[in-house]
Amino acid sequence: MFVSEDLSVNEKNHLVIGENDTVELAKEFGTPLYVIDEDLIRKNMRIYKDAIDKYYDGNGLILYASKALCTKYTVNIAKEEGLGCDVVSGGEIYTALKSDFPMDKVYFHGNNKTVEELELAISAGVGHIIVDNIYELISLNDIAKEHGIIQKILFRIKPGIEAHTHTFIQTGQIDSKFGVALENGEAFEIIKAAMELSNVKVEGLHCHIGSQIFEVEPFCDAARVMMRFMGELKDKFGLTLDKLNLGGGFGIKYTEEDDPLPYDEYIKTVSETVKSAAKEYGIDIPMILMEPGRSIVAPAGITLYTVGGIKDIKNVRKYVSVDGGLGDNPRYIMYQAEHGAVVANNAAAKPEEFVTVAGKCCESGDLLVENVKLPKVNVGDTLAVLSTGAYNYSMSSNYNRIPRPAMVAVSGGIAKTVVKRETYDDLLRNDV
Ligand code: LLP
Repeated sequence: MFVSEDLSVNEKNHLVIGENDTVELAKEFGTPLYVIDEDLIRKNMRIYKDAIDKYYDGNGLILYASKALCTKYTVNIAKEEGLGCDVVSGGEIYTALKSDFPMDKVYFHGNNKTVEELELAISAGVGHIIVDNIYELISLNDIAKEHGIIQKILFRIKPGIEAHTHTFIQTGQIDSKFGVALENGEAFEIIKAAMELSNVKVEGLHCHIGSQIFEVEPFCDAARVMMRFMGELKDKFGLTLDKLNLGGGFGIKYTEEDDPLPYDEYIKTVSETVKSAAKEYGIDIPMILMEPGRSIVAPAGITLYTVGGIKDIKNVRKYVSVDGGLGDNPRYIMYQAEHGAVVANNAAAKPEEFVTVAGKCCESGDLLVENVKLPKVNVGDTLAVLSTGAYNYSMSSNYNRIPRPAMVAVSGGIAKTVVKRETYDDLLRNDV
């Protein structure tokens, strides 16, 4: 079984994260509990930032893809580490605003931004809007005109690259709801239309080919396709674009079989590809932007649960039920995603039996980890599910009227609540 190298075990045989004993955390804050290692988040952000500074001569910007874990706490860390921020909804813009994020470093994505969201983006001073389609372009130009500004924009392009990942999280191919395609001339058309509008300024292109990708080649292929298109835009329209946003999607190690490259390798290889493509297509080297989300926060998070019941169904499987489930982590039910697990109060014990960790929701598919080899599990144990920092809290729900867990951040032996546990009254707040 894979246990993250950033976790350890103390003399009490308890799992430790950020110098905090997880069994003590569970006692103090209750379960289910999201625990985030702040030092690891900062470390991951710095790896990306240093790599782009080093390999791209200071002409790049890393945007934290806040959809992975959008809280004032995480957005604030991105601010302190000098990153930009990728947002995808009014709620994420509002979180950045309330975190005093420098709004000129915010990039707003989405395939169906509402008029209200575009208005919020403009009044909040969002630096760049990544336009998805012609309707959005026209509406944005009108809103920018009403506000008396010229909005800087990028276009979301489908580069026609298929990455090897779950089909739900592939986005670069023509059959995708995101962006405009190159193959059918759509991309040319929309850029031509934008050049005739008075209140938008086309500064660059964006693509995002998918998520949890292990190879660097698809990113390089996408970069080359985008650079070639930039060359064509220059030849056809005399248009020079100085920003190329290549999205996020770098994979992480959820299981022993997952074998991601070091993050700085991705940045190095992609940087070199863009520079050589600039030469090949006769264009200036653009500023590049990258938008990692998962790879920054997923490895930094674990979720602690308490084991409530165990069902050993002879010749079928053994279920270990915990006090959370698809409400706090829908990744199994959505993608059959895999996560590691550790019995936190018996962390160094030898795994001896395969169990399936089940949630408490009224859905048979509400599993957290299927067939994981653990030491003997007992009722009352604290169970840690690993690598839950991304797309857990941000995709959580109140299904079955279960309140969302609290989130604590740990660093140097100190734990602080960064998101409060929801109460039953929170669940009723909007009922009239
Ligand atoms: N940029 C754009 C435009 C995106 O759509 C995404 C992710 C990212 C950046 C960040 O990608 P990352 O570095 O985190 O892979 N809920 C799924 C993942 C969905 C990803 C959506 N877009 C999961 O739990 O695996």
